[in-house]
Amino acid sequence: MDLPDFAPAPNQGGDPALYEIENRALDPQGLVLEAMRKTAPWAGRTLLDLGCGSGFWLPGYVQEASETIGVEPDPTLIRIARQRDPRARVLAGSAEHIPLPDASVDVVHARFAYFFPPRCEPGLAEVLRVLRPGGALVVVDNDQRSGQFADLLAQLSWAGPQAAGQRTDEWWAQRGAERTEVLSEWRFNSRADLEAVLRLEFPAEIADPWLAAHPAALGLSYGYVLFTIRC
Ligand SMILES: C[S@@+](CC[C@H](N)C(=O)[O-])C[C@H]1O[C@@H](n2cnc3c(N)ncnc32)[C@H](O)[C@@H]1O
Repeated sequence: MDLPDFAPAPNQGGDPALYEIENRALDPQGLVLEAMRKTAPWAGRTLLDLGCGSGFWLPGYVQEASETIGVEPDPTLIRIARQRDPRARVLAGSAEHIPLPDASVDVVHARFAYFFPPRCEPGLAEVLRVLRPGGALVVVDNDQRSGQFADLLAQLSWAGPQAAGQRTDEWWAQRGAERTEVLSEWRFNSRADLEAVLRLEFPAEIADPWLAAHPAALGLSYGYVLFTIRC
């Protein structure tokens, strides 16, 4: 399948093994998953994990969903995702080109994948095409205004987190999305893992001063936000 819109994710696409460590460390109490489940339950329903990457979250979904489908454009990550759990179907595709029929899915998750406003109208239209009436899209994003991770993000954005978060919020609000904040954390088993993941996500000039200022840290506080669109 030709996917002209696909851009490899610099973090997971660049270092899938290290991103696996990041996924294992995030949200250790499962607060984000709990909020996602409450917002749009998937027990007994068809769940699509859009931009599923290496499929880290698929085995959890198959425990409850009647059918679990992953869609991913990166050929390297698709290969890893297909090894993850034989009960999940992993298809080559993207948000703009979902290889599923109209009205065939109940819940779509997009976790740090594609939905970075403002340029995501085509993917939203495609998600709404595949959702059944009564279905929901749940997008997991960074809360640019809450937690130590947001402080680091602020250094990437010339306009600061308030402005970046406000633009994202407005884009979703204009499309009728519900907004749910979840304050959670990253918690690593070792300092070396925290350092490696922080340097995966941020340039050295941002990661290194933070690490120097927090010499004993094994994690940090992390604000997530869910945007939910109902069909
Ligand atoms: C940061 S990774 C997150 C992967 C996975 N959702 C997770 O949480 O482990 C972003 C993912 O979005 C995928 N991606 C890039 N362009 C995309 C597009 N146009 N549609 C859907 N996914 C896309 C990347 O290949 C990558 O797998």
